[in-house]
Amino acid sequence: MKTNDILLLMLPDDMQPLAFREELCALDSTLRVVLDHEPHDPAEVGFIVGWKRPEDGWDKYPNLRAVHSFGAGVDQLLKGGGWPEALPLARVVDEKMAVQMSEYILTAVLLFKRHFLEYAHARGGWNWGDEWPLTGNRVGILGMGHLGQATAALLQKVGFEVHGWGRSEKVRGGFPCFCGRDGLGDFLRQSDYLVAILPNTPDTIGLLNHDRLQQLPSGAVLINVGRGAVLVEDDLLTLLDEGHLVGACLDVFQTEPLPSEHPFVNHPKVLVTPHVASLTPTGSVAPTILENYQRALQGRPLLNQVDPAVGY
Ligand code: OXD
Repeated sequence: MKTNDILLLMLPDDMQPLAFREELCALDSTLRVVLDHEPHDPAEVGFIVGWKRPEDGWDKYPNLRAVHSFGAGVDQLLKGGGWPEALPLARVVDEKMAVQMSEYILTAVLLFKRHFLEYAHARGGWNWGDEWPLTGNRVGILGMGHLGQATAALLQKVGFEVHGWGRSEKVRGGFPCFCGRDGLGDFLRQSDYLVAILPNTPDTIGLLNHDRLQQLPSGAVLINVGRGAVLVEDDLLTLLDEGHLVGACLDVFQTEPLPSEHPFVNHPKVLVTPHVASLTPTGSVAPTILENYQRALQGRPLLNQVDPAVGY
């Protein structure tokens, strides 16, 4: 077995592949790290760190031992199908990402709770001393994985009542949790703030549609930081315009980058951010990715390995 298979970085420029190569090579100067636009023999590629499936598919790399997503999600790598059955796939699970995500969500919840958007839009058009009524205090976290549990812990620490929802029954950091499709209605009815941190899988596409969003209490707020495919965007717009929901903070969209003419962009009740809730911190993920490269060469199970059939 060769011990210096090429580690191919298949990352768009905005993910700073050059800087990431430096981080990896600083940890092990014998590594052969190649960027996908640089000349290389695909037969020598043993490990790919990527974000999207290669245009010409995975068969181009006959000796590939494993793939590592550069993010927490793997949907872009699986998109289009054709995942080789035995090829291991891992994703990023990182403390710094969890801190970023929980900070982002806490900021969004407080911003709506204290009506900062309305004050910003009103530009002084208020009666001095008047306060908009405070919304409820219950936060429902849809997706209680690593990022969801970190967020739940931070929100609980500052006084929110937090509950979660997950696909299956598992221990979820000690937070009260609902599970499965049967538990979704009760979960939604108790969520003054609905925080969606779900991956994009066949099970989650379109989950947040009109019927489900309508089960939120009147005056609720949606925060979506998982994947845009989970939300039916027109249904959210309808419920915002009807006043059932009072606001939304969205970091992910059906189409990214979000087209500038999209109704969310100038909607007074919507705060849009450009998929930045939690960015991969290269310095802290490099050692884990390197460990997984070595595990792949040795044929050992990867850290944070996902099940491609389930999608996370
Ligand atoms: C990720 C993301 O998957 O940023 O990490 O969306």
